[in-house]
Amino acid sequence: MTIHARITGTGGYLPEKVLTNHDLERMVDTSHEWIVERTGIHQRHIAAEDEFTCDLAERAARRALEAAGRRPADVDLIVVATTTPDRVFPSTACLVQQRLDIHGCPAFDVQAVCTGFIYALGIAEKFVRTGSARCALVIGAETLSRIVDWTDRSTCVLFGDGAGAVVLEASEEPGILSSHLHCDGKYEHLLNVPVGVSSGLERLASGEGTIRMKGNEVFKVAVNTLGRIVDETLEANGLRREDVDWLVPHQANIRIIRATARKLGLPADRVVVTVDRHGNTSAASVPLALDVAVREGRIRRGETLLMEAFGGGFTWGSVLMVY
Ligand code: UT7
Repeated sequence: MTIHARITGTGGYLPEKVLTNHDLERMVDTSHEWIVERTGIHQRHIAAEDEFTCDLAERAARRALEAAGRRPADVDLIVVATTTPDRVFPSTACLVQQRLDIHGCPAFDVQAVCTGFIYALGIAEKFVRTGSARCALVIGAETLSRIVDWTDRSTCVLFGDGAGAVVLEASEEPGILSSHLHCDGKYEHLLNVPVGVSSGLERLASGEGTIRMKGNEVFKVAVNTLGRIVDETLEANGLRREDVDWLVPHQANIRIIRATARKLGLPADRVVVTVDRHGNTSAASVPLALDVAVREGRIRRGETLLMEAFGGGFTWGSVLMVY
């Protein structure tokens, strides 16, 4: 019997504090109109000072477990996608495991920036399909606000905090049909945080530890690359564009989302958009968008979903699945 990996529950969590475009107008030389026209973003959520990535991840995970009808004790694998871990070590996945009072199962973080959740899901899917795990918790969680330069108008208007999670279980019924993961490190200079642990914690603390992005150049590569991954994903499954019911894209910019939707020939009401409310939450953006659409009753069991993301590295990837 073929073992499939199927999502049985989704969950999301957003910090209470909302930062609107009008709030940003008071912080940098920008306008609500510019941000909406160029990005589609109206507001983003910001974690409280004493709220960390692990806190957001735990809440999203508990909601996903509840939706799946599972208890923490059922979980036998935890993968957390994050670029903003609480600590150097242990990994955020280990911290989440402790919070959920789970003991012994493998738990690790994946770092692929905005593509992190797609990477994490692609990895967890292989554990489940090979019989190495039966009930995986896959989480994307970020406190990106901690690595944003709040004086740089070209980046600070884009990002937000949040977490999304799914429970991925072994099933006789189809779930994930394929996953496609890519990276090309030659583009690292276009989007990065230029310092880190090995290059010096003192440089991190001195204000160099913030996101640098050549937005316009990233934009062009993102649109082309995501167009290609649509073709790759459909071809790998012998499917046509019209076989896809939903696009659940990474939420970086409404203009990038629309370009990918056009490539798929999908009308706006078949594309999940949360960038207006959440901004770009990096690894959390795809699972948060999925959770919103599932809870609103839009995405239904048996429908075919294409999830995709693009981010620093550059990394990019997709997952095609039957929900
Ligand atoms: O998730 C990871 C991947 N990241 C992305 O996918 C992000 C990709 N990039 C983008 O989404 C877009 O490039 C941005 C939203 C970041 C920028 O939009 P753009 O249409 O590419 O604008 P631009 O960078 O070409 O800047 C146009 C103008 C510039 O002024 P000049 O040089 O034409 O006078 C900027 O200085 O807009 C100016 N500008 C702003 N104006 C008001 C840049 N940021 C702002 C701002 N408010 N916040």
